[in-house]
Amino acid sequence: MSDQQVFDVPASSAARALVNAAQYDAMYKKSVEDNAGFWGEQGRRVDWIKPYTQVKDVDYTGAVRIRWYHDGTLNVAANCIDRHLAKRAKQTAIIWEGDDPSESKHITYGELAEHVGRMSNVLKAKGVKKGDRVTIYMPMIPEAAYAMLACARIGAVHSVVFGGFSPDSLAGRIVDCDSRVVITADEGLRGGKKVPLKANVDAALKQCPDVSACIVVKRTGGNVEMKSGRDVWYHEEAAKVSPDCPAEAMNAEDPLFILYTSGSTGKPKGVLHTSGGYLVYASFTHQYVFDYHEGDIYWCTADVGWVTGHSYIVYGPLANGATTLMFEGVPNYPDSSRFWQVCDKHKVNIFYTAPTAIRALMREGEAPVQKCKLDSLRLLGSVGEPINPEAWLWYHRVIGKNRCPIVDTWWQTETGGILISPLPGATKTKPGSATKPLPGVMPQIVDANGNVLEGACEGNLCIADSWPGQMRTVYGDHKRFAETYFSAYPGKYFTGDGCRRDADGYYWITGRVDDVINVSGHRMGTAEVESALVAHPQVAEAAVVGYPHDIKGQGIYAYVTLKTGVTATEELRKELVLWVRKEIGPIAAPDLIQWAPGLPKTRSGKIMRRILRKIAENEYGALGDTSTLADPNVVTDLVDNRMNR
Ligand code: PRX
Repeated sequence: MSDQQVFDVPASSAARALVNAAQYDAMYKKSVEDNAGFWGEQGRRVDWIKPYTQVKDVDYTGAVRIRWYHDGTLNVAANCIDRHLAKRAKQTAIIWEGDDPSESKHITYGELAEHVGRMSNVLKAKGVKKGDRVTIYMPMIPEAAYAMLACARIGAVHSVVFGGFSPDSLAGRIVDCDSRVVITADEGLRGGKKVPLKANVDAALKQCPDVSACIVVKRTGGNVEMKSGRDVWYHEEAAKVSPDCPAEAMNAEDPLFILYTSGSTGKPKGVLHTSGGYLVYASFTHQYVFDYHEGDIYWCTADVGWVTGHSYIVYGPLANGATTLMFEGVPNYPDSSRFWQVCDKHKVNIFYTAPTAIRALMREGEAPVQKCKLDSLRLLGSVGEPINPEAWLWYHRVIGKNRCPIVDTWWQTETGGILISPLPGATKTKPGSATKPLPGVMPQIVDANGNVLEGACEGNLCIADSWPGQMRTVYGDHKRFAETYFSAYPGKYFTGDGCRRDADGYYWITGRVDDVINVSGHRMGTAEVESALVAHPQVAEAAVVGYPHDIKGQGIYAYVTLKTGVTATEELRKELVLWVRKEIGPIAAPDLIQWAPGLPKTRSGKIMRRILRKIAENEYGALGDTSTLADPNVVTDLVDNRMNR
């Protein structure tokens, strides 16, 4: 091993693990030599109504075709519920922990079956059929999982929209996939504050004339308007239907869900995942990466509005018959020991969170942690952005008590599940490295010309061949799918991430190489924030870049040119921040706005983002070549007036 700090696999992890180092090597080798054979075996971890005879049908060139298990049929919800009932009807499927620490409940697999059956019948009663899209805009309550599984059960395609998105963002997503039914709640509850979900839906639906039904779950009992003929209370509808609903037989390649995510350009894309391969991959990775064993209590702190919530709160754990914890609240309410109190309260064994949460809690010191025992924890996970070594070491020492391995899991909405990560019984870890590819995953690092680099190197991260959890298309725009992911390096999937590989073959993700920024582990396209800013009547032009932020990983830095005659004031600055919050949602609010009388442009009018990034990063001493700028003086002004952090 090279000179970085290396942590051995703890003896206790090695002893119980599903896979040790030698087994990982053998598994990896087989998976590369006989990829279809490897995934053909893994496919049997789920129950098929009609077993597949074909495993893999992939072509990364031309129009791009990706199919797995494509002559098999199955039902994802039946795999997550029904097949466990003989053995686990009384086992807890979901532990729900409310925003208020006095509220929690356990839902058994038997109860889950009934809830999902009722929700399925309510959807059917509203006319939802196989293949129809249903938008889910929910707080972190069990009904969010019921809604997803109910769609899966009847063959509808869910599109979950994070509850922090604005009415405009929600409307755009409803229209893009042509959802006719929306499931929401009266209000959400986070950190003691109410989130007006139904009111947001009402505002969104003004732009969505085709939505015929809005099903509202009562969470807070707050006052909401119910539009007659369109809006119904879930509890009233659920009381009218049976808890039994047959599971629809779905082809492996029938769509399971759409999840919108940001790219370099344009509007968010509807990432489409299908049924068979996705479920096999979510189940496989949940079992191996978290070294999941029967009886473990598993907690992923993500929101179901993100892919992490889809694969590692709902589908992966439930496919494996696990007990999955769902948390409604936030890490610092009522105080900063909340996560650790929840771990003690429910005897959590496996804990999976994001670097931004770790950094925020680290800032509060060790006292809030020391109030708790944390003796049930066995394994820690990280996801969403590169974890800086300081945060990794704190997580390891203060939370994991130097006892728990950390799995730093690299993946994306597009990948459906984890691709690069340690296996806790097999892989030595290095703080800040996602370590090695999982079996069946073939990363490659390429230079700007597409040459594949060998050995220790740095470049752009591609994946050479498919895996079952890969996205299949951009909803409604297959051409955009092929162009976005397969045109930069023909024949390979391009991730958009930069990456270094060290002499031990360990992967170190260096962050996005495109115009996507990662704010607190949430993806944001700079173009989206820019178009929100220029939609303001007083803004002429805007350019947005990321800059290093202690807690969020990256913050949003906006350069704004005002229309002639408009005075730049502190009030206007605040107004613009609020404006973006309203247009997209709080996660997109700029951290810093600099007034820019002019933006650095080439003579052909292209904004030179490289320069704007350097200024935002405070590296204005090294701006590089500015000779191609139409007006080099613009840069001097921007440097002189840069924002303090
Ligand atoms: O840049 C990588 C970063 O998050 C991006 C994917 O974001 P999203 O689709 O929202 O999915 C997040 C949850 C899977 C990647 O392109 N990223 C995610 N995990 C890591 C990471 N960067 C470094 N290390 C990670 N473990």
